Amino acid sequence: MGDETLTVTDNRTGRRYEVPIRDGAIAATDLQKITSDGPGSGLLSYDPAFLNTASCRSAITFIDGERSILRYRGYPVEELAERSSFLEVAYLLIHGELPDPTQHRQWVDAITHHTLLHENIKKLIDTFHHDAHPMGILVGTVGALSTFYPDAKDIFNEESRRLQILRLIAKMPTLAAFAARHAVGMPYAYPDNDLSYAGNFLNMMWKATELKYEPSPVLERALDVLLILHADHEQNCSTNVMRAVGSSHADPFSATAAAAAALYGPLHGGANEQVLRMLKEIGSVSKIPEYVKRVRSGELRLMGFGHRVYKNYDPRAQIIKKVADDVLAVTGRSPLLDIALELERVALADDYFIKHRLYPNVDFYSGIIYAAIGFPVEMFPVLFAIGRTPGWLAQWQEGLLDPEQKIARPRQVYTGPAERHLPGVRAEAISR
Ligand code: SDX
Repeated sequence: MGDETLTVTDNRTGRRYEVPIRDGAIAATDLQKITSDGPGSGLLSYDPAFLNTASCRSAITFIDGERSILRYRGYPVEELAERSSFLEVAYLLIHGELPDPTQHRQWVDAITHHTLLHENIKKLIDTFHHDAHPMGILVGTVGALSTFYPDAKDIFNEESRRLQILRLIAKMPTLAAFAARHAVGMPYAYPDNDLSYAGNFLNMMWKATELKYEPSPVLERALDVLLILHADHEQNCSTNVMRAVGSSHADPFSATAAAAAALYGPLHGGANEQVLRMLKEIGSVSKIPEYVKRVRSGELRLMGFGHRVYKNYDPRAQIIKKVADDVLAVTGRSPLLDIALELERVALADDYFIKHRLYPNVDFYSGIIYAAIGFPVEMFPVLFAIGRTPGWLAQWQEGLLDPEQKIARPRQVYTGPAERHLPGVRAEAISR
């Protein structure tokens, strides 16, 4: 193997350059030395949507799209989904190591005791329209939390960061459940500290007049696994936003609100909601060939299929498919699952999907489980946001503490008009 360098010849000038290669990448700033017209004419790298650009160095999550690998801090997601809990995984993502029993107990206890919201947040939720999308309420209320915790601005104080991280992980389910209750005109069900993280969320979603809500252990575990599977995913769109907002040294509540806003998009975390709407639109297995034809023609996208990184199976989709069986054994068979399974079978045998390397992603089956558990379809991206919060926070903190990082400010290739002047203004009159 030769030197870890790239030799570049600029044919415009005949000059040769040696560009160092580090960890399989070149530093885009090294291209600035390749000039053709004096200082300031150095080359830029042009990469809309960052198809082939690393924005950071990260030790949190590893994905291999060709081999369908997803690891959180080196642990395969399959093992964590099988043997761990969401709060244990959240600790792992943020601290880099699994907690010992004492750390785990303190972590769970701290989060359990931060689930309450200031009563004024409830009043804020009450002001939303009755049919406000819960994701819009979540984005608004997470941002509003930054005004309740001004100490969150002290981002380089480790103890303050830990407190805000606890608050955000703890309060996301409460905000989510209160948004859902608001939509149906139900009184808010307050957190029950006797329950697990997932169990308490089900309690806040569905406690009615019973004195104590008792979650189904199967649904509680299924939800915990789904949260694990959504916990982080390296530099996805919403995480990129979290890091960018964090790079301006905004507080973590404002950064999380921005990340949630990015996740809301139907191409990202909003896809699980669109999958359910798509399956309902297809309506029956017999209608699948017609629908796939519309996708092949480019008229539609098959929601829940495709991924920027996974060009084979999304490993999370595989695990979620198994969780679906456990949930449906309790909730009863879902005709939507039958349509989804047949749609997957047809799509995977179709040359359009084979050619475009499109496979089911995390959103293809998750919505079916959420629907079976009883969540309204609008809540699906909110559930994604609850799961992704520890990942956003781990990435935010890593970016903040990375000495190679500074405020995110990309360059551009200018394609607009050359200098021109308003009518009546003579060019020479303009002093430079
Ligand atoms: C998530 O990044 C992450 O890690 C995200 C995520 C996470 O955990 O954070 O994994 C979560 O967002 C999962 C993705 C959920 N979104 C969807 O399911 C929406 C449907 N999927 C697509 O819109 C698309 O596949 C994306 C957005 C997921 C990926 O888009 P890319 O990588 O930018 O690919 P592209 O849009 O450039 O498409 C490449 C080609 C195009 O065809 P051509 O123009 O080259 O002929 O593939 C086609 C696209 O039309 N294509 C699809 C398709 N996805 C891509 N055609 C039909 N159906 C689809 N779903």
